[in-house]
Amino acid sequence: MFIDSHCHIDFPELSARMPEILAKMAENKVSHALCVSVDLPDFPRVLALAEQYPHIYASVGVHPDYEDTPEPSVEQLVELARHPKIVAIGETGLDYYRLQGDLEWQRERFRTHIRASRESRKPLIIHTRSASEDTIRIMREEGAGTGNGGVAGVMHCFTESLDVARASMEQGFYISFSGIVTFKSAKELQAVALEVPLERMLIETDSPYLAPVPYRGRMNEPGYVAHVAEFIARLKGVPLEKVAEQTSANFFELFKAAA
Ligand code: NI
Repeated sequence: MFIDSHCHIDFPELSARMPEILAKMAENKVSHALCVSVDLPDFPRVLALAEQYPHIYASVGVHPDYEDTPEPSVEQLVELARHPKIVAIGETGLDYYRLQGDLEWQRERFRTHIRASRESRKPLIIHTRSASEDTIRIMREEGAGTGNGGVAGVMHCFTESLDVARASMEQGFYISFSGIVTFKSAKELQAVALEVPLERMLIETDSPYLAPVPYRGRMNEPGYVAHVAEFIARLKGVPLEKVAEQTSANFFELFKAAA
């Protein structure tokens, strides 16, 4: 069984096709999926999916790319994270690629999420793009990692260097690979995936985006995470079953509220 550790099935293009999406998950042996929150106005539809389906979990947070959206407070995130189907805080982080200019608000929002994670004891889902230095620095300053009283989390849809992977793992974080790792052009990322131990790895779709080969360019969905696992198994030269078992065990080890 595989687990999609990061998807956005609450987005209308996917939620409109739920019966099909659940059928594809079953067909591809994808047992669970984590539906990740991107802002507070749409959080109710994320939670509704988790409440409706036993094998769908959810997170609460505000994505760094969402500029004109209500800013969350630590108290608000902690309160919303009390729900038993909310297993994580995020997605949060920094993105200097999609947005430019004075991004101090993004860093402040990131700090808010880390504080909420520490207080709620629920792990972080971190997005970082063209901002790895500040991301790692703020994780350290705020004590996001297990060595600093935090509960760590996952570096989602990882596309950074091996150094960034190591700095994250040192803080107790898992590294999650998406369909990007299957792309022909992703040689550097594949080299990173080869070095990240299976024991520290999660797999995800980030659907509806970034469909893995052989679906590249089409709409992605949680069932396709099996193709990410197949690629990792081939890359590492280990049985697919081992990738399935270890990444699923990692998921439940990290997201303790999921059962
Ligand atoms: Ni995402």
